[in-house]
Amino acid sequence: MANKFIPVNEPLLQGNEKKYLSECIDTGWISSDGPFVKRFEEEFALKMGRKFGIAVTNGTSAIDAAVQSLDIGKDDEVILPAFTIISSILQIVRSGATPVLVDSDPLTWNMDVKQVEYKITSRTKAILVVHIYGLPVDMDPILKLCDKYNLKLIEDAAEVIGQTYKDKPCGSFGDLSTVSFYPNKHITTGEGGMILTDDEDLAKKCRELRNLCFKSDNRFVHENIGWNFRMTNMQAALGVAQLEQFEKFIDKKRWIGKLYNDHLSKLNGVLLPLKETNYAKNIYWVYGIVLNDETKLKAKEVMKDLIKLGVGCRPFFYPMHQQPVFKKMGLFKDESYPVAEQLYERGFYIPSGL
Ligand SMILES: Cc1ncc(COP(=O)(O)O)c(C=O)c1O
Repeated sequence: MANKFIPVNEPLLQGNEKKYLSECIDTGWISSDGPFVKRFEEEFALKMGRKFGIAVTNGTSAIDAAVQSLDIGKDDEVILPAFTIISSILQIVRSGATPVLVDSDPLTWNMDVKQVEYKITSRTKAILVVHIYGLPVDMDPILKLCDKYNLKLIEDAAEVIGQTYKDKPCGSFGDLSTVSFYPNKHITTGEGGMILTDDEDLAKKCRELRNLCFKSDNRFVHENIGWNFRMTNMQAALGVAQLEQFEKFIDKKRWIGKLYNDHLSKLNGVLLPLKETNYAKNIYWVYGIVLNDETKLKAKEVMKDLIKLGVGCRPFFYPMHQQPVFKKMGLFKDESYPVAEQLYERGFYIPSGL
């Protein structure tokens, strides 16, 4: 037991995954045209309370297509958190639009919604919210701002599949919402993602963007630039099987969170994840720990020791304004987001695989 390394995350594949995968092989349906894709899109969208689901290759491509479907381009600004994964920002930057960053709330680690309105200008086209690590963003103020300034909302719900905001599923708030099914997510398809929307035109646009913008009537004549972001039937087969175990997985994540809370809450020098806010109970996608002022060690040093002890861990996100790639591009010059910076210096997460 002493030598066993505990990875930060491991999926659980003990339902019908093998059976449905065998069905793909037996029937020859391994491409994106197979029946599991449609079934997964419908069943997942239903679970998230959405009309349309567009299955894609990963959570990053889901965001890319969502941003592109809103025709975000060089004259536009998009507001998003500084503390997030690079996937959130890539298509905004590629499209030539300007990413406008917002600092985090020090307790929930999510975008500080109080700061968003100050960032809105006549060029702002959309807000891209990202629910971080297990608690949702406070959505009511964001929805009000979108309404007041006529902004589009993209909701990155990759980390919170199964979470709710005031009893409404995360993934049901955006004009377009996106999720990831990477193996560290609450349900997995190996690699995979989905775009969710209630808007038929946006759904159609995302389907076209996913499929190289082939036209249904004249296949090889293209009016737009798309991608091949198609999910295979094999990935979707895994997704359907995983979805059957969804509630069990979510209960388990909360159980893991509670176990850590019970054991770590007496520890000095650390800030643990908030158990709940007035709009949600933590779902603990990952169990994050932030070292506080009493602790002289940096997260990097603690992680090194934990890994030596066989406990897998990962650093928190490196804020977007500090990324070398964006500095080289001349973005975010002289900008500072102190909470995001501190979260990176002091935060890390420990194993919470299913
Ligand atoms: C918030 C968030 N958005 C997007 C992604 C990207 O998903 P994928 O790895 O499937 O591209 C991740 C991945 O961990 C994520 O945490």
